[in-house]
Amino acid sequence: MYAMIIRRTGGPEVLEYAELETPQPGPGEVLVQVAYAGINPADWKNRQGYLEQYRPYRFPYIIGFDAAGVVAAVGDGVTGLTVGDRVCTPTNHGQGGQGSYAQYTLANEDRVARIPAALGFREAAALPVAALTAWQGLFDRGGLERGQRALIHGGSGGLGGFAVQFARWAGARVAATCSTPNVDYLRELGIERVIDYRRENIAAAIADWAPGGLDYLMDAVGVSTLPDGLDLVRPGGTFVSIPTLVDDGDIPAAAEAAAQRGVRRVFSTMDDTACAATLEKIAGLLASGELTLPPIREFALRDVAEAHRILQQGHNRGKMVLRVAEPG
Ligand SMILES: NC(=O)c1ccc[n+]([C@@H]2O[C@H](COP(=O)([O-])OP(=O)(O)OC[C@H]3O[C@@H](n4cnc5c(N)ncnc54)[C@H](OP(=O)(O)O)[C@@H]3O)[C@@H](O)[C@H]2O)c1
Repeated sequence: MYAMIIRRTGGPEVLEYAELETPQPGPGEVLVQVAYAGINPADWKNRQGYLEQYRPYRFPYIIGFDAAGVVAAVGDGVTGLTVGDRVCTPTNHGQGGQGSYAQYTLANEDRVARIPAALGFREAAALPVAALTAWQGLFDRGGLERGQRALIHGGSGGLGGFAVQFARWAGARVAATCSTPNVDYLRELGIERVIDYRRENIAAAIADWAPGGLDYLMDAVGVSTLPDGLDLVRPGGTFVSIPTLVDDGDIPAAAEAAAQRGVRRVFSTMDDTACAATLEKIAGLLASGELTLPPIREFALRDVAEAHRILQQGHNRGKMVLRVAEPG
């Protein structure tokens, strides 16, 4: 099969096109023929070597978590999926497996979600990591409830684009931060209070919008961009940070400071264990039109280095995907 691989960690230039053996599914695994691979900031951090602290890198290494395509083969014990099913998945990459920037990738069955006919592969590839992280940070771990006032810091990014919509869908009152070029985009999504962090003081805007303090805050950007986030949350409220690997500050100290204020402090990394059910629910909400996908920028697989260069600047609106091959 063909893939974009790295033979060493480094800048976007280390990504190269190569041919490798097609993997075969082991027990409980599904082989997905990839139509589109999703791109996440974790991919460039992985390329750069930031994930070495979690796993040894074995080269040639295929990066990329997200994939959408069709089931090409199933391993022993797989009962819920069959060859030809349309699916998306965060793959087994988080557990150290090869990634999705390839013609084929492997995933455990419980991480593979069927996608409705109304959802294209391009759209489905944008879901797994960003949508699951948003969902878990808001609901499973964040406990966001109807009527609560929530701020999503970084509402125009890949994760934020899902988070603002999920929060609205759940009946929360939603504010979000973004830079000037993204203000209209978030307003069109129906966000009640869009805060242009380049022109407005976030604390003053929140004091005005949620005078008693926020019920819920998600920082989807990094602690250096919202150093006083704790001050925005009311006692009894919840402050969720999505760990970035590069801008997380002193996590134990942040947890301690929050405890002293009576704020529930959560550091919410994506958990892809048995994530198929949540992904199928989200895919269904998109297919039915209850939710809108963030804008998607498409690149050819071979142009992934260019996509990484743009994403790494930290101001992409919505999601990026790689076109690998439309299954024919
Ligand atoms: N731990 C996990 O499991 C996990 C999972 C998913 C994501 N993440 C991390 O979460 C972060 C966000 O992911 P993503 O996919 O949304 O990334 P992304 O698509 O690159 O989006 C980042 C967004 O941050 C916004 N931003 C940049 N500087 C800002 C500032 N000073 N104030 C407010 N917003 C700012 C940008 O919006 P503007 O252009 O409008 O400024 C941009 O759209 C990344 O660090 C990613 O690695 C972690």
